Amino acid sequence: MAGGVSRATVRSLGEAGEDIEQMVEDVRASLLGVPKDLSPWPKYFYDERGSELFEEITALPEYYQTRTELSILQEKAPEIVAYTRCRELVELGSGSASKTRALLDAMVAGSGSTSDPARARYVPFDVSESALAGSAKRLIEEYPTLEISGFVGDFDHSLERLLARPRSGAFGRLVIFLGGTIGNFAPERRRGFLERLRTGLEEGDYLLVGVDLVKDTRVLEAAYDDAAGVTARFNKNLLSVLNRKLGGEFDPELFVHRATFNREESRVEMWLDSTVEQEVPVASLGLEIPFEAGEGMRTEISTKFTRESIAGAFDEAGLRLLDLYTDDEDLFGLALGEPF
Ligand code: AVJ
Repeated sequence: MAGGVSRATVRSLGEAGEDIEQMVEDVRASLLGVPKDLSPWPKYFYDERGSELFEEITALPEYYQTRTELSILQEKAPEIVAYTRCRELVELGSGSASKTRALLDAMVAGSGSTSDPARARYVPFDVSESALAGSAKRLIEEYPTLEISGFVGDFDHSLERLLARPRSGAFGRLVIFLGGTIGNFAPERRRGFLERLRTGLEEGDYLLVGVDLVKDTRVLEAAYDDAAGVTARFNKNLLSVLNRKLGGEFDPELFVHRATFNREESRVEMWLDSTVEQEVPVASLGLEIPFEAGEGMRTEISTKFTRESIAGAFDEAGLRLLDLYTDDEDLFGLALGEPF
């Protein structure tokens, strides 16, 4: 590495990771409610197998979101970076950082000249230390002038500490939250999340959020019920997570995957319907969970937005929607906001 100086660090903000007691508490309420509803806890989908299956989903013909967001980023990144004049890119839930390069390219291209000597900095934030370390390693090789400060943590615990870090000089920060992940939060959770983010932003900072857009029901439902059955496996993998972590005895064969677009709530909902009447023991809960034949358990919500609804969600949290960048077919959007 140039000069032997390390340009990449990965540090922990604490609190992240395995917390079985928390999971017991979360899941107990979810399985005792009517209807049974695990959708408040999207993170439980993403064990190793679930993360692999999600990667597979992103390449499915029916799942337009990932490739569409990438193409919007590739087209609009120079404009977004020029407009915001940020030198620091903070990515929430960075994962493998596969979509980040478009923004980094634009940021690095504009920084480090004699008239503008600030170095670009990338601050990825993720629960997975291995994903962070892997992407940091690749990125320092690809971007010889980029500084990388990665942080391990989760949104519930570490957002404030992540954003309280000192900024680099007079330059603002662009905080990005891609993939449409905000759609997995119910309205109250989304509002709290955006408010907490807003609190960490200063004048000159910006927020860029990936949002899936309202469209034809068939297109939306196919994206969550693909012909190859990958999303069904992703959904049922949640039962394996419950079995492994909480000593559950769910038989994935006794549940069917279902995805429906709920237009009133403007969200796709994934369900697992029990095909038989059964009682499922879950040792860590000390409970047997009863299911009627045909009874559904909601496992995920994925909210679909319009320009108006994302503007409203931003506004409630003290953020002004500056622009919504979309593809030609208005499948997906990148919402740019600033604090007011
Ligand atoms: C991770 C939020 C982008 O809601 O579309 C994909 C998760 N669930 N297929 C989404 C998911 C089923 C996904 N995001």
